[in-house]
Amino acid sequence: MKISILTLFPEMFQGLFSHSILKQAQEKNVVTYDVVNFRDYTEDRHNRVDDYPYGGGGGMVLTPQPVFDAVADLKKGADSLKKPPRVILLCPQGEPYTQKKAEELSEEEQLILICGHYEGYDERIREHLITDEISIGDYVLTGGEIGAMVIADSVTRLLPGSLGNEQSAVTDSHSTGLLEYPHYTRPADFRGLRVPDILLSGHHKKIETWRRQQSLKRTYERRKDMLKKLDLTETDQKYLNE
Ligand code: ADE
Repeated sequence: MKISILTLFPEMFQGLFSHSILKQAQEKNVVTYDVVNFRDYTEDRHNRVDDYPYGGGGGMVLTPQPVFDAVADLKKGADSLKKPPRVILLCPQGEPYTQKKAEELSEEEQLILICGHYEGYDERIREHLITDEISIGDYVLTGGEIGAMVIADSVTRLLPGSLGNEQSAVTDSHSTGLLEYPHYTRPADFRGLRVPDILLSGHHKKIETWRRQQSLKRTYERRKDMLKKLDLTETDQKYLNE
């Protein structure tokens, strides 16, 4: 997978991409990140990428030319792909980002993430370049970079070969539709705080049931909205009604 990011602040991504799983994923050739400063594409003689809004009003608007040209350039390199890259605009008006969307995007060969600043984007960028608009939450950030990091991170960890233990992506909170059960490690007794006996029992079937119930309990207590979307088994229902 190739993740291309168009931003005016490429340095913001250096920290994320040079640590931990995202660093290892690049070393294992599971992913490449291509961070492009779209100011490099501007034809404006003062290097500007924004301008005043037609019709007046406050704030500046990102002009179409540098974004169109940067995306065209990135797409040239994508000629050999089976499918054209997804071109994603980060903005507060976008579709709310979820684990399901991360899973969908992880099937692509190339993602192009566009990070805006200023008051907004020229609408022609939306109309003619963009395949998806994504928001990472109902709040307004100063720019799309943090959203692009969220997507790059959540998609990369789903790519085969990226996590050491493939299982961990499968049992994650959200990919099962439930929040994850509690984890414990050694010591079994930490200053009088004991690990639940069931986990020390070696009884795999019982442990599996306990974990399922803990996930259900946690989701019920914290995120009833998630439970409503699930087809729970009869055993799950019984446990929740107890
Ligand atoms: N840019 C500004 N706010 C944003 C948000 N909530 N999600 C994605 N991009 C943004």
